[in-house]
Amino acid sequence: MKIISVVGARPQFVKLAPIHKAALAAGVEHVIVHTGQHYDPMLSDVFFEDLGIAAPDVHLGVGSGSHGVQTGSMLAALDAVFDEHRPDWVLVYGDTNSTVAAALSAVKMHIPVAHLEAGLRSFNRRMPEEHNRVLTDHAADLLLAPTEVAVGHLAHEGLAERTVLVGDVMTDVLFEVRDQVAGAPSALIEELGLEAGGFYVATIHRAENTDDPARLAEIAAGLAGLDKPVVLLAHPRVVAKAATHGIALTQGSLISHAPLAYADLIAAAVSSAGVVTDSGGLQKEAFLLRVPCTTVRTETEWVETVQLGWNVLANTAQEIAAGVTRARPSDTDQAPYGDGHAASRVITVLAEQRR
Ligand code: UD1
Repeated sequence: MKIISVVGARPQFVKLAPIHKAALAAGVEHVIVHTGQHYDPMLSDVFFEDLGIAAPDVHLGVGSGSHGVQTGSMLAALDAVFDEHRPDWVLVYGDTNSTVAAALSAVKMHIPVAHLEAGLRSFNRRMPEEHNRVLTDHAADLLLAPTEVAVGHLAHEGLAERTVLVGDVMTDVLFEVRDQVAGAPSALIEELGLEAGGFYVATIHRAENTDDPARLAEIAAGLAGLDKPVVLLAHPRVVAKAATHGIALTQGSLISHAPLAYADLIAAAVSSAGVVTDSGGLQKEAFLLRVPCTTVRTETEWVETVQLGWNVLANTAQEIAAGVTRARPSDTDQAPYGDGHAASRVITVLAEQRR
């Protein structure tokens, strides 16, 4: 069996790691295509190196641009790649422009497409990720869902026959890295002279939170006013927008810092008093690590984290302050994201459903 994985953005490299490992273990031919959507070393190369992923076989070098230019450039370049390799499956990941471009290119070439992390919904049609997910799910031949809730959304949209519940592959990586960093001091704590449990880790990158200057200024001021130091692991998008609009990302309690490699992020989150984020992956990682999370959004796709008490949605500076100082939730033995063996299940399902 031959699979082409198409990835392009940071969270996709994390999801690729366990899939690549499971594909190798099963003797599957696995071709990795990097669209080039993320190109900064700290958003891309460091993940391949640290998570033991083979270097991409094909790099499209698409880079940044408007949604249309970025997605269109990927589409044009992917046709030739798929035509040359003619895989049994094109595997697409998550909800970025790289995901929808690869799904559309493959389906038009009659190459079977599987969507990993299918069925997530925010029901917020202003998010670019929501269009990407819905379009990809409806184009794909096989929908690999991470949770029961995702399976329900797909059934509701008439896609039950193409859906298989496999669990969440990010959980596979998280469990492994959590065990590797357990007991080791966090490099971030040492670098910034922080106290374990005496700081928050923050990430903000979504268009809804960064593009409008008033919105970004309110979030920065909210973080700056918190009761403990807040280390903002600043994605290039938030750095660029803050510079354009003259908004300080280091002020009051707020300290701007470069993004971290995956293991360093997990070590920092484990040692923190809480996480404040608009990232999907980090909400779930915080839950799995049992670190309280405050999500700076009006909704979340990972509803289980909220239902189980480990995540709250916060939309204003006051709500963020209330979120981080709330009482620690009680622990749960529920495991809505699976057992940490989702990737080998994905490879098994792809082999079984190969045409
Ligand atoms: C993308 C995904 C988002 C995902 C996020 C993970 C889409 C629509 N969005 O958002 O779903 O959560 O990745 O990080 O696909 N930039 C750099 N260096 C880079 C990459 C980007 O400086 O390596 C800057 C550029 O100014 C660029 C901006 O960040 O214009 C936005 O990058 P883009 O890839 O369009 O979207 P993300 O915000 O990263």
